[in-house]
Amino acid sequence: MKGNLVKWLLLLCLTCYLTTTTTISVSTPNSSMKKTYIVHMDKAELPETFTDHHQWYSTMVNSVADKLKTKDEATEEEEDGEERIIYTYQTALHGFAATLSEAEARKLEGKNGVVAVHPETVYQLHTTRSPEFLGLHPEDSTSVWSESLSDHDVVVGVLDTGIWPESQSFNDTGLTPVPSHWKGICETGRGFTKLNCNRKIVGARVFYRGYEAATGKINEQDEYKSPRDQDGHGTHTAATVAGFPVKGANLLGYASGTARGMAPGARVAAYKVCWAGGCFSSDILSAVDQAVADGVNVLSISLGGGISSYYRDSLSIAAFGAMESGVFVSCSAGNGGPDPVSLTNVSPWITTVGASTMDRDFPATVKLGNRQILSGVSLYRGRMNLSVRKQYPLVYMGSNSSSPDPSSLCLEGTLNPKAVAGKIVICDRGISPRVQKGQVVKDAGGVGMILANTASSGEELVADCHLLPALSVGEIAGKAIKSYALRNSKPTATLAFLGTKLGVRPSPIVASFSSRGPNFLTLEILKPDVIAPGVNILAAWTGKAGPSGLPTDHRRVNFNILSGTSMSCPHVSGVAALLKARHPEWSPAAIKSALMTTAYVHDNTQNPLKDNSDAAPSTPFDHGAGHINPSRALDPGLVYDLGPQDYFEFLCTQMLTPPQLKAFSKSSNHSCRHALANPGDLNYPALSVVFPEHPSLSVLTLHRTVTNVGPPTSKYVPRVSPLKGVTVTVQPRTLQFTSKIQKLSYKITFTTKSRQPLPEFGGLVWSDGVHKVRSPIVVTWLVPI
Ligand SMILES: *[C@@H]1O[C@H](CO)[C@@H](O)[C@H](O)[C@H]1NC(C)=O
Ligand SMILES: *[C@@H]1O[C@H](CO)[C@@H](O)[C@H](O)[C@H]1NC(C)=O
Ligand SMILES: *[C@@H]1O[C@H](CO)[C@@H](O)[C@H](O)[C@H]1NC(C)=O
Ligand SMILES: *[C@@H]1O[C@H](CO)[C@@H](O)[C@H](O)[C@H]1NC(C)=O
Ligand SMILES: *[C@@H]1O[C@H](CO)[C@@H](O)[C@H](O)[C@H]1NC(C)=O
Repeated sequence: MKGNLVKWLLLLCLTCYLTTTTTISVSTPNSSMKKTYIVHMDKAELPETFTDHHQWYSTMVNSVADKLKTKDEATEEEEDGEERIIYTYQTALHGFAATLSEAEARKLEGKNGVVAVHPETVYQLHTTRSPEFLGLHPEDSTSVWSESLSDHDVVVGVLDTGIWPESQSFNDTGLTPVPSHWKGICETGRGFTKLNCNRKIVGARVFYRGYEAATGKINEQDEYKSPRDQDGHGTHTAATVAGFPVKGANLLGYASGTARGMAPGARVAAYKVCWAGGCFSSDILSAVDQAVADGVNVLSISLGGGISSYYRDSLSIAAFGAMESGVFVSCSAGNGGPDPVSLTNVSPWITTVGASTMDRDFPATVKLGNRQILSGVSLYRGRMNLSVRKQYPLVYMGSNSSSPDPSSLCLEGTLNPKAVAGKIVICDRGISPRVQKGQVVKDAGGVGMILANTASSGEELVADCHLLPALSVGEIAGKAIKSYALRNSKPTATLAFLGTKLGVRPSPIVASFSSRGPNFLTLEILKPDVIAPGVNILAAWTGKAGPSGLPTDHRRVNFNILSGTSMSCPHVSGVAALLKARHPEWSPAAIKSALMTTAYVHDNTQNPLKDNSDAAPSTPFDHGAGHINPSRALDPGLVYDLGPQDYFEFLCTQMLTPPQLKAFSKSSNHSCRHALANPGDLNYPALSVVFPEHPSLSVLTLHRTVTNVGPPTSKYVPRVSPLKGVTVTVQPRTLQFTSKIQKLSYKITFTTKSRQPLPEFGGLVWSDGVHKVRSPIVVTWLVPI
C-alpha cells in the first residue's frame, strides 16, 4: 500500500478537480429517457401565490415538463405533474424527488428557488462476543451498562433492509414504555402488523417509491413490501446496535455465547430503504428526513455510494440536516480496502467507521498427503463429515501461472464433474461469492473445497458458512497447497474443523477490506474516524434466508456471522447511544470526539495495530483515531466540540458555489461569517496538516478548542510523538481548567525541516494524569505534479 500512496497523492488534486467540475451526468444517451432526480430547494423562496411547498414543487415540475408532439401524450404529461413527484423533503433537507428527463432536469436547474438538481444514485450495503471484547462487561456495576442508565430513552434509527421482529434479539422484556419524545410509527404490510412493533422495535417504515420509479413495481410475491427483512442484513445491524441479550446464541454451534447489542436498553426504529435491487438515494433521503422528524437520537447507516463531493452526495446533505437536529450519524467506511483512497461517507459531520478483527477465530486445517498441515478458517458444520484419518484426492483446475482462470475460480459451469468428483477442490477467491464456489464444487460432485486467497485478499481470512466441507486459507498457504497439488501426480488432503477459538493474539487487526484514506475530498480531515469490530460478527438473522444468503441454501438459523464495515458501523451507533444516554447534553460532535480521543492504537500484544493486508503496522489512513474503547469514551476528560455553524464555516473553505452551499444552509441563516483560514482549523479531534506543493511555505499552525467535561478543576499538559521532517510546538504548554464546560484553546505549529516523500504519522496527547485525550496527527507534503 505504501508504494501506491505517493501515486495516489499525486492523483488527488486531479481527482478533486474532476469531481468538482462535473455536473449532471452526460452519459445518458437518450435525453428524453426519464429517471429520478433529487431537487434541492430554497424553502424561503416560496412565491406568495402558493399556499404550500408541495403545490409549488408540482407546478414547477409541470412548467419544465416536455410538451410532446401528439395530443394524447401532451395531455398525459400535464396530468402527471403531481404524480412525477416521488417525495417531498422537509426536515433534514428541503426539496423533492421527481421523475424527469435529463432535458427537464437541466431546465429546472435555472428556475428561481432551485438550489441544485442531482440524478438519483444507487447505494450499496457494505456487507456475542463483541461486547466483552470492547470491554463492556454487564456484570460490572461501574460499567456503561449499570442499571441506573437510561439508555432506554435513546432511539437508534437503522437504515437498512428492514427487520425480522420475531428474533429474540428484539424481545422487549424489562423495557419501560416507549419514550414520550418518540413520534415514529409502525407501518404495516405483507408479513408485518402493528403487533410486530413493541418496546424494542418502536418504529418501522418502508421507502420504495424511488426504487419502484427506477426498477418497476416490486413483485410482492418475491419481496415483502413491508418492514419485514428477508435479506437478513438489517436484522443483523439492528441487533448489533441494541439487541436484547440472548443466551446460547450461535451459528450452527459456532461462536456460542450470549448475543447482545451494544446498547441493549436502547430502542430501534427500522427504516427499510434497501431492496433486492439496491438502495436508492431518493428513498434514503426520505428515510433520514422522516427519522429526524420521528425523533431518532442516532442514525446507523451501513451503506454507501460512490459520489465524490459534499454537495452531490445525498447522504452527506441529509446527514448534515440530521446533525443540525442533534442526531449522531454513524456510517460504514466501505469495503474498498486495502486500496488507498477507497473511503465513502467522509463528511466531517458523519462518523466514518472502518472494520477490524476481534479476538475470536474459527480455525480449520488442511492436512496434505505429504503430512504438511496448513491452517485456515471455516464455519462449516454439516452432516457430511470428512474423515480426518482418510486422505481424499486433491485437485486444482488452474495452472501455476499467477493469473486465475474461470475454473480455478470455480465459477458456475466451469468444473468438469469427471475431473472433480470425489475430490477436494482448490478454488481461488474472487469474482463469485465465496459460498457459491462451494456450491459449484458440490454440484460437480466434489467432497470438499479449499478456498485460497489471492494477492488482492492477502492473508485476511473470512470464515464462511459453507454448504460442503470447506475452509478459507491465506495467500501463502494457498500457494503452498496449489504448488503441492500441481507438482504431485496423486495429491491428497483432508480437512478438519476445530470450532471456535477465543483469545486470538494479536487482535484487533485492521481488516483488509476496510476502506482506506487519505480522504480525497479534504486531506485536512482525517478519515476514517475510528475502527470497530467488523469481522465474523454474530447477530440475529432473518427467518427467510439461509446463512450464506444463497437461494440454494435451505438452512434456517436464528443468528448469522457476517463481516464488513456494515457490521462495524452499528457497533459505533450502539456505543453512541450509550454515550447519549449517559450525557444527554452532548452534541453529535462531542460524542464523536469522546469516541476518537479515547480510541486505542495498540493490540492485545501491546504492539501498534497491524494491517491485515500486509501484516505491517497500520496508519491513521487505515484505523483513523484507533479502535473504539466504550468505557473510556464515557469519561473522555475533554471534548472537541462543534456545532452546525462550525461545519458550515468548514464548507466555506471547500470552494462550493453559493447554490451548492445553499443545499446545506437551506433557509436557515448559516453564512460564511468567520471562514476558517484552513480547512484543518475545523475543531476536529484529529490533526491533519497538509503542506502545499510550493516549498516556500514551511510553517503551518492549526487551532483547536477543547471543552472540559471532566472534573471542574484540572490541569492538562501536551505530549507529541516525534515526527520525521517536522518540528511541532504546542502553545500554551498547559491548559488549566477551573470549571466544568469551560473552553480553552491551543495552537499547534508544524515547521518543516525536510520534506518527506510519504506522510508522517503520530499523535498529540493532552493528559491530566487521569484522562488521556489523544488526537492522531498526519503530516502530508504534497508533491508537485
Ligand atoms: C428515447 O426514449 C424515448 C422514450 O423512451 C423513445 O420514445 C425514443 O425513441 C428514444 N430515442 C432514441 C434516439 O433512442
Ligand atoms: C422474551 O424473553 C423472556 C425472558 O427471556 C421470555 O420469558 C419471553 O418468552 C420472551 N418473549 C418472547 C415473545 O419470546
Ligand atoms: C465429524 O467429525 C468430528 C471429528 O472427527 C466428530 O467429532 C463429529 O462427531 C463428526 N460429525 C458427524 C456428524 O459425523
Ligand atoms: C510451472 O510448473 C512447471 C512444471 O512443474 C514448471 O516447469 C514451470 O517452471 C512452472 N512455472 C512457474 C511460473 O512457476
Ligand atoms: C439565526 O441564528 C440565530 C443565532 O445563531 C438563531 O438564534 C436563530 O434561530 C437563527 N434563525 C433561523 C431562522 O434559523
